[in-house]
Amino acid sequence: MGSARIRTKSAETRKTNRGLLALDWSRVAGGGGWPSKEEFTTMLNPAPPSLLSQYLTISRLLAGQLDFHSVIRSVAAEISQIIPHDHMDVCIIQLDGKYHTAHESPFETGWGSSPPALISDSPIRSVLHGEVEALVTDDACADPTFHFEGAFSGPIIDGNLRSRLHVPLKVQGDIIGALSCSSHEIGIYTDKDVEMARSIADLLAPYFFALRAAEQAKRSAIVETEARAREEGLRLGALKLTEALEAERQRIGMDLHDQTLADLTRLARRLERLTHMPDVPGETLEPLFRGLQHCMHDLRQIIEAARPSVLQLFGFSQAIENHLDRSVRDSGSTIEWALDDETHGAIDSLDQPVATALFRIAQEAINNAIRHSHGDRIDVHLRTTERHVSIEVRDNGIGLSTPAKRIGGGINNMRTRARLISARFEISKNREGSGTAIRVTLPANAAGREK
Ligand SMILES: Nc1ncnc2c1ncn2[C@@H]1O[C@H](COP(=O)(O)OP(=O)(O)OP(=O)(O)O)[C@@H](O)[C@H]1O
Ligand SMILES: [Mg+2]
Repeated sequence: MGSARIRTKSAETRKTNRGLLALDWSRVAGGGGWPSKEEFTTMLNPAPPSLLSQYLTISRLLAGQLDFHSVIRSVAAEISQIIPHDHMDVCIIQLDGKYHTAHESPFETGWGSSPPALISDSPIRSVLHGEVEALVTDDACADPTFHFEGAFSGPIIDGNLRSRLHVPLKVQGDIIGALSCSSHEIGIYTDKDVEMARSIADLLAPYFFALRAAEQAKRSAIVETEARAREEGLRLGALKLTEALEAERQRIGMDLHDQTLADLTRLARRLERLTHMPDVPGETLEPLFRGLQHCMHDLRQIIEAARPSVLQLFGFSQAIENHLDRSVRDSGSTIEWALDDETHGAIDSLDQPVATALFRIAQEAINNAIRHSHGDRIDVHLRTTERHVSIEVRDNGIGLSTPAKRIGGGINNMRTRARLISARFEISKNREGSGTAIRVTLPANAAGREK
């Protein structure tokens, strides 16, 4: 089988029995836009009226088609009236000049379904590079022109594309792609078909040029929108992070307040008392030293994970007991205390953040009782029922002054912590005699118990 017939640039258009297509290329392609109806008619003159009407039909079909695929599909049938074919494709060179895309009708091959491919691998690279004015072959499956090393020519075999003709799509003298018609039959295309194809290519080229520019603009807009979305995402992410950091800062602040600051306050008071003593024996200083060590240890805990380690290691009840014992001892006052736990360990099966919040509330209530009540007894009750978990801290001191002298960070923190775990918080006069009672009640449905 012979190789491709190559139409050189000097080839002239000829009169054919399908009509003279003496198109002035520089006017059609060079203008970069549509010729007027009069110009168009003059250019095609004296094409037979039937052919002229076919060209006008193609031109009409193009209108309103907004992507390559629909353009090809819309005009393929009309073009097949002029150039019979089983497959038609339009190859468009991308703006980078290195890659091209393919759009096909009526069936899709590897060309159309692949991402942009290198022009240098295209079987019709000579047309795309402008080295030849047209390519015609009687059997592309056997023609070596299309099967060089690295050529993307598989679809020729897969699609059984035998006779093929290729003409460039030109706009303003630049090649923007190629129009190809193929038939399963061998040896059907003549020079006349090539001339027809050129005319059709000239008709389609400006439209494809505009589509390519529009697609490029669309791609740029998408890239820009994506970049903006990324920026916005980062901004929102940073905002969320700031919020999370702020929440964490508040939580650490509350922990420092409820635990370490309270401990240090007690120690400072004891130290103050010691300053009035002429001789301070070693055994008096020893609890202060231990207290300071506790503070340091607690600080480390807060910094590391901000969870009370006793709570994790020994459970809720033990942690409360430990806090009561230590705080009362460090206060240097004589205070009796009792812990009544009726929960049978139920609080320990609560979610960790919930248990921690309850512990912090109890801790501050105990701290307040020691610091402000002037009583000599503190009772802590832990209870669970079907419907709720509750913690009560009572003292037998002077009670809250009415109106309250001030609501400090401690009471506010207790309220906030309770709200965060959907628990009810109450602070009142101790019903059983003098003093103050705080109660926090966690409904069972908010308990989030671990299975
Ligand atoms: N058990 C209590 N008995 C008597 N008065 C109390 C008791 N608990 C709190 N108060 C009073 O309520 C006030 C507010 O308590 P809150 O815990 O909010 O602040 P604070 O303990 O004074 O300071 P902070 O907790 O911020 O170190 C206290 O100053 C105290 O006057
Ligand atoms: Mg307080």
